Amino acid sequence: MIRIFVTRPFADDGIKMLKAKKYRVDVFEKDEVISRKELLKRVKGCDGLLSLLTDKIDAEVMEAAGPSLKIIANYAVGFDNIDLIEARKRNIVVTNTPSDFVNRSVAEHAFALILALAHRIPESDTYARAGKYKGWSPNNLIGTDIEGKTLGIVGLGRIGMSLAKKAVSGFGMNCVYSDMRRNAEFEKEFNANHLSLAKLLQTSDFISLHVPLLPSTRHLISTEEFSLMKKTAFLINTSRGPVVDEKALLRALRTKRIAGAGIDVYECEPAIDCDLTDRLELKQFTNAVLTPHTASATIEARQAMSRVAAENLIAVLSGKEPINPAK
Ligand code: DGY
Repeated sequence: MIRIFVTRPFADDGIKMLKAKKYRVDVFEKDEVISRKELLKRVKGCDGLLSLLTDKIDAEVMEAAGPSLKIIANYAVGFDNIDLIEARKRNIVVTNTPSDFVNRSVAEHAFALILALAHRIPESDTYARAGKYKGWSPNNLIGTDIEGKTLGIVGLGRIGMSLAKKAVSGFGMNCVYSDMRRNAEFEKEFNANHLSLAKLLQTSDFISLHVPLLPSTRHLISTEEFSLMKKTAFLINTSRGPVVDEKALLRALRTKRIAGAGIDVYECEPAIDCDLTDRLELKQFTNAVLTPHTASATIEARQAMSRVAAENLIAVLSGKEPINPAK
């Protein structure tokens, strides 16, 4: 009997699909990150592993699973938690879960951060709840419009495109993007200019990051990049934490080098700050809007991710090509 190990309970569409195939589906019982010890024990002898971005899947885990393991289906678009080279060596297929629902959810979240920053929503909420609102004032909590402002998209994948659609068609923003590849169709549809990263940083009012975490994108945004941004610019990160040099971000906020930041992912996740030796913490800045890696946390996206992971497991375990190979 084909056995799948799932490292945490989650949206059940995919689990139902796997059970309908009469696979034995063994789901870790607790709604918490599985311990290393438990993971190494439970993967033993499985044919498919359904892992999360919080599970480090390396040679040790693959070894513990043994030769039956044919596929690691990661329940995420990103797959920087998996040692792809090791998997390739062992002929284990690795897949991820791109889906229109995930793209939409992450793009909506990035847009929510843009609006929250521009209209100072969390600050206003805190102010109102604290009973500080004593009467209308022309000078209180002044934000900024986004219509007519320039959105810079760094990494034009499906999420970046979905964000551009909302920004340009829905809110009248201008759009520029930087990517290794140009996309003529996108440029035409959204009247978007392709720029170098440096030029994009110099011209954008809102900069949204949508690149995968690779050796080449680690600290893509660091001190030099912040020095190029407008002082009125806002940085949005819903990609992966280490794409932004957290210390450089903290310095940029402290020195008012930029106007603010909307952050969903953290360099030393799940810690919000890597260390506090310099007494600088993201949460001390009221112009930083922080969410706990929840950009894809909608019921639609989570169920879609679950279905996509199951489709990949079923394909590979039926001897077919994976639908979403991680590459
Ligand atoms: C992803 O899919 O990579 C997100 O970060 C989590 O859903």
